[in-house]
Amino acid sequence: MTKVRLGIIGMGGMGTDHFNQIKKIENIEVTALCDLDEKRIAFFDGKKFSDYHKLIISGVVDAVCIATPHYVHTPAAIDALQNGLHVLVEKPIAVHVNDAKKMIAAHTDKKLKFAAMFNQRTNPIFQKIKQLVSTGELGEMRRINWIATDWFRSYAYYASGGWRATWKGEGGGVLLNQCPHNLDLLQWITGLPKKVTAFIGLGKYHDIEVEDEVNAFLEYENGATGVFITTAGEAPGTNRFEIAGERGKLVLEKGKLHFTRNEVETTQFSKTTSQRFGVPPVWEIDIPVSGPGEQHTGIHKNFRDAILNDAPLVAPAEEGIRSLELGNAMLLSGLQKKTMELPLDGEALYCHLKNLIETSRFVKQKTVEAQDDLGASFKH
Ligand SMILES: NC(=O)c1ccc[n+]([C@@H]2O[C@H](COP(=O)([O-])OP(=O)(O)OC[C@H]3O[C@@H](n4cnc5c(N)ncnc54)[C@H](O)[C@@H]3O)[C@@H](O)[C@H]2O)c1
Repeated sequence: MTKVRLGIIGMGGMGTDHFNQIKKIENIEVTALCDLDEKRIAFFDGKKFSDYHKLIISGVVDAVCIATPHYVHTPAAIDALQNGLHVLVEKPIAVHVNDAKKMIAAHTDKKLKFAAMFNQRTNPIFQKIKQLVSTGELGEMRRINWIATDWFRSYAYYASGGWRATWKGEGGGVLLNQCPHNLDLLQWITGLPKKVTAFIGLGKYHDIEVEDEVNAFLEYENGATGVFITTAGEAPGTNRFEIAGERGKLVLEKGKLHFTRNEVETTQFSKTTSQRFGVPPVWEIDIPVSGPGEQHTGIHKNFRDAILNDAPLVAPAEEGIRSLELGNAMLLSGLQKKTMELPLDGEALYCHLKNLIETSRFVKQKTVEAQDDLGASFKH
């Protein structure tokens, strides 16, 4: 194979953006589109489907990109994998860990590439933070603090899709739609905590039934602690990611990465100094990193290269279960008002979600077709 024939399933805001980006990339071509809404694919000259299974078995695609509402990710990805197609699935890979496990179990033919759209992994600034942590440059991790409250969404946003912000249609709120990027980067850089305790606000700032505010406390195996705060109801929000280790502190804010590096590890200084009020001497380092990376285009190119040349995936879909573990644990902790241990009991979350769907009295406001460009929502 010298060129990947791709089908896009779900041609709403994100699917359309993928379509436009892929047009500019060599050796990958969109040969089929699928959407339940025929209007969304009417412009296309290639094969068009309203049923994703028919696209999958059509013989005109080698791979699919799934950009539907979240619950459809699981059956569409499993169907495609079982029918010998490579799969690139949008974030979050599923609504909950139980569905993610089913998708991973369906990936039996390892010749098929199964990737997730965690485009922020292509950002050099996050790659640099990961490198500084994983090489031990920051020393043993002590404290993590990510305030990610710049996910403001208006009522118009929630009205732009009947599935949005409902237990039945979306399966969650800010944790499942906006934060999968943060949660993926967090687990990618720091690993998963052992325990999660969270406080959540359901429809606190909007007329929605799902969570739009989260304050979570994380406990790691080595004793490090973390705080993750997010909301879709605050403006102006903050995006500040801070990691303190034995050898200093990394701060990412407003696109700038600063490393205050301790000349001596904190614990060693504490045990050896005779100064009562002394602190370790430091070097102040601005870490130069330019640009946001290739983002979605980078993931598409990597998916193509994995299929054509066996390149390693930047974001294997199998890793998508980790951000779900984290997000699902925050949600369940907030709903049940207790600490969750990881790995999460997927069944407990699944049952709780099922109950929320069955007992929901929420009436979704009228859907209003989006007038603006989804690109305005991208964070790098
Ligand atoms: N990676 C990113 O930066 C990013 C940004 C935005 C959205 N997303 C993700 O993209 C996905 C889609 O989000 P969106 O904002 O484009 O939603 P959207 O509502 O704009 O589009 C979803 C589309 O899927 C179609 N659809 C629904 N069920 C279908 C089915 N069974 N078969 C075929 N088509 C179906 C709908 O008709 C709609 O056109 C979600 O997973 C979302 O989290 C990712």
